[in-house]
Amino acid sequence: MRRSDLLHIMGALGFALGIGLMHPTPMAAQWPNGFTVDQTPHNLTRPASSTDPDMVGRIRDYGEVCTYCHAPHGGPSWGASPRAPLWNRNRPNASYRMPEHNAQNMFQDPSPSDRARVCLSCHDGTIGLDNIVNRPNTYGGPGPANQTIDSCEGCHSGGNPDGGIDWDGVWFRDDMRKQHPVSVVYDPSRRPGEFQAGLGGSVGPLPLYNGKVECQTCHEPHSQQFKFFLRISNVGNSMCLVCHVTPPTEPVHQR
Ligand code: HEC
Ligand code: HEC
Ligand code: HEC
Ligand code: HEC
Ligand code: HEC
Repeated sequence: MRRSDLLHIMGALGFALGIGLMHPTPMAAQWPNGFTVDQTPHNLTRPASSTDPDMVGRIRDYGEVCTYCHAPHGGPSWGASPRAPLWNRNRPNASYRMPEHNAQNMFQDPSPSDRARVCLSCHDGTIGLDNIVNRPNTYGGPGPANQTIDSCEGCHSGGNPDGGIDWDGVWFRDDMRKQHPVSVVYDPSRRPGEFQAGLGGSVGPLPLYNGKVECQTCHEPHSQQFKFFLRISNVGNSMCLVCHVTPPTEPVHQR
């Protein structure tokens, strides 16, 4: 990336952050809090620079942490719906299966919203991790290795590889029935006594997006202040109990 472009992305992202901070929303308050993206598993430059023979060539090192998700001028258009600022990845278009729901359930979109697809653009295993739209200008290396998160998990699960990290469960596929409902309108009145009241676009400290629970309601993708990128601590189901009146017995994600 040229120096001018670097200044540009910093300016542009700083501008976005500035806007976030002007409105005292819970999401702005949670990040960065002294915790930065480069210290998290979302720093994909780190595995890309690995010299381990098993790792070489699996993912390109673009020399910059943000670029795997954001670009100075934003990426491709996904249409009108909001997703994330200056997004640098294509929209994943798997045939998602959503959880079954009956008339008593809260209203759910027929497929994940673009907010959720931002995460699914890596986590559903259909798009290569380094398959970004705008590569930094300073990068002159080969094109994307285009390996998807499931190909990484092939080695990085079940206690493998030797000395490597285990990321069991980070790969979602397209079956959303195994995951916590997302793109669902938070409406406690449909299930009286089961859910806490939501107020002003959030439930307690957790943000809703157009009134909906999305991945980003529970997760803050820039900070590991709480493990698994959680916005708040979930010790003793404390995060679940922000919304659920009684602790759920089912896990939040299944394999
Ligand atoms: C793994 C993907 C990913 C990486 C890497 C990443 N971001 Fe983000 N970023 C997101 C997502 C997703 C959102 C939208 C969050 C939301 O909707 O609440 C976002 C939102 C933002 C925002 C808007 C304010 C906010 O918190 O919602 C800013 C500013 C930002 N990112 C800056 C950065 C910078 C600077 C870097 C690099 C140091 C970076 N991001 C790295 C995924 C990423
Ligand atoms: C650029 C690709 C990319 C995007 C976009 C992305 N992730 Fe990830 N995420 C990864 C990879 C790769 C890992 C596994 C890396 C590791 O464990 O070292 C991961 C790991 C995680 C983990 C497990 C962290 C841990 O502590 O084990 C969570 C939780 C997560 N991501 C949530 C999200 C959410 C929520 C979003 C959207 C807001 C998102 N991710 C967007 C690539 C991405
Ligand atoms: C063929 C098996 C294999 C595949 C596929 C694989 N890895 Fe690895 N990975 C390894 C091994 C072995 C290590 C341990 C290296 C070490 O500890 O020095 C490792 C280490 C890592 C580390 C830790 C390095 C560090 O800085 O601590 C990360 C992160 C990582 N891999 C990410 C990935 C990502 C992302 C992918 C997919 C694009 C991937 N791996 C695919 C075998 C693999
Ligand atoms: C209602 C809150 C909530 C929502 C919504 C949510 N998650 Fe999670 N997620 C969690 C919690 C809590 C964990 C920690 C692991 C656990 O408790 O099982 C987690 C763990 C993860 C992990 C780590 C692997 C694992 O299974 O433990 C990934 C990856 C992840 N979430 C991605 C996502 C993505 C992508 C979405 C949207 C499609 C999403 N999450 C929606 C609460 C949520
Ligand atoms: C931001 C609010 C919120 C948080 C936090 C939250 N949930 Fe949920 N949960 C919901 C909503 C909304 C639904 C869907 C209700 C519907 O479809 O009628 C739901 C549904 C579920 C379901 C499906 C069964 C059912 O009753 O509909 C399970 C299981 C579940 N949540 C588990 C968890 C767990 C475990 C946690 C904590 C890790 C958690 N939830 C945190 C809002 C939340």
